[in-house]
Amino acid sequence: MHLAHLRLRDFRNYARLNADFAPGFHLLLGDNAQGKTNILEAIYLMATLRSFRGVGSAQMIRHGQKGYFVGGKVVGQGEREIKMFWSARERNLTLDGRAVKKLGDFLGTLRTVVFCTEDLQLVKGTGRTRRRFLDLLLTQTQPGYLPLLQRYMQAVRSRNALLKQFAPDPRLLESFSEQLVKLGNELIRHRRELIPKLSPLARLAYRRISNDAEELRINYEPSVKTDFSVELAQVRDRERRFRATLIGPHRDDLQLSFNDKSAAQFGSEGQKRTLAIALKMAQAEYLTGIHGSAPVLLIDDVMGELDAKRRAGLLPLLERARETSGQVFMTCTEENWPRELGRELQRWEVKAGALHGAKS
Ligand SMILES: Nc1ncnc2c1ncn2[C@@H]1O[C@H](COP(=O)(O)OP(=O)(O)OP(=O)(O)O)[C@@H](O)[C@H]1O
Ligand SMILES: [Mg+2]
Repeated sequence: MHLAHLRLRDFRNYARLNADFAPGFHLLLGDNAQGKTNILEAIYLMATLRSFRGVGSAQMIRHGQKGYFVGGKVVGQGEREIKMFWSARERNLTLDGRAVKKLGDFLGTLRTVVFCTEDLQLVKGTGRTRRRFLDLLLTQTQPGYLPLLQRYMQAVRSRNALLKQFAPDPRLLESFSEQLVKLGNELIRHRRELIPKLSPLARLAYRRISNDAEELRINYEPSVKTDFSVELAQVRDRERRFRATLIGPHRDDLQLSFNDKSAAQFGSEGQKRTLAIALKMAQAEYLTGIHGSAPVLLIDDVMGELDAKRRAGLLPLLERARETSGQVFMTCTEENWPRELGRELQRWEVKAGALHGAKS
């Protein structure tokens, strides 16, 4: 799969951009604050309808303008055309010229994996970051997962609203609880099945990047230990006091450890950074295995942070993307781009919201 064309209007610091991209390796070179990351953000947006910077759409509109347009042509098994327009008053998403009604039909048109400095939050941050990682991967691989997740989150919200009332109707609470347990158990099943497949890929990636002897472990840490309805009944009094749904997949986490010691608490900075990259590599490998083609890799500022040895560990992944006619976009400044990547790459110069093809 590759992105063959990207078109931007009033997106971040791009007034307009039209660029054609071949499969293979694209190096986006430029000084700071020129618009390198903005390009990756636009590509990721077409894949997930979110910014990987965790900001809302309003922030992505070019200053002083009313709305942005991001569009692209994706070549995979066929050719698909994505167009999205966003303004405070109007939102429009089309695939091959037709309005997208169900997100499930759209997501998966373009698959990406992003590597960025914020990935460190996968190790250092709260459970929410790790749940999002799992949810994105399951959305990218299981067609029914997103609607299921949305229905579950809606059930949590309705139940919480009821629990906030002075005297919640017990019959209504009972029916919300039933819904919660039914949908929640499905989510738990998906997550439980994913971890044993993801874990070996992450361990292998970790070992490739670092020569550390530590044994990386990834365990699913579900909020529900055995029986959701029984455990929900056990926390009833506490739920009354806290007026919120206290257990369920919305409280799940992933436990990351080295030699059975928490990576967040005991790992070194380098180990944490390597672990975050290993998780992303595992995501990419898993997607490749499931779909038979590599996702588009978006690598932002990551190489510059790694020492030569760790960079060398990342290279096989990039090589593979090239061999399987996948596509990689990597941002760098002139000083820190890894020259060992070789000559088979397309260089682009990014300057003040414009992109110029450069000779490699
Ligand atoms: N909504 C917006 N409208 C106009 N310009 C914006 C908007 N949001 C960000 N910018 C501008 O985009 C530029 C930053 O772009 P980007 O983050 O892509 O830089 P970069 O090339 O990745 O830099 P670095 O090497 O520092 O990471 C800044 O000049 C910033 O002012
Ligand atoms: Mg940047």
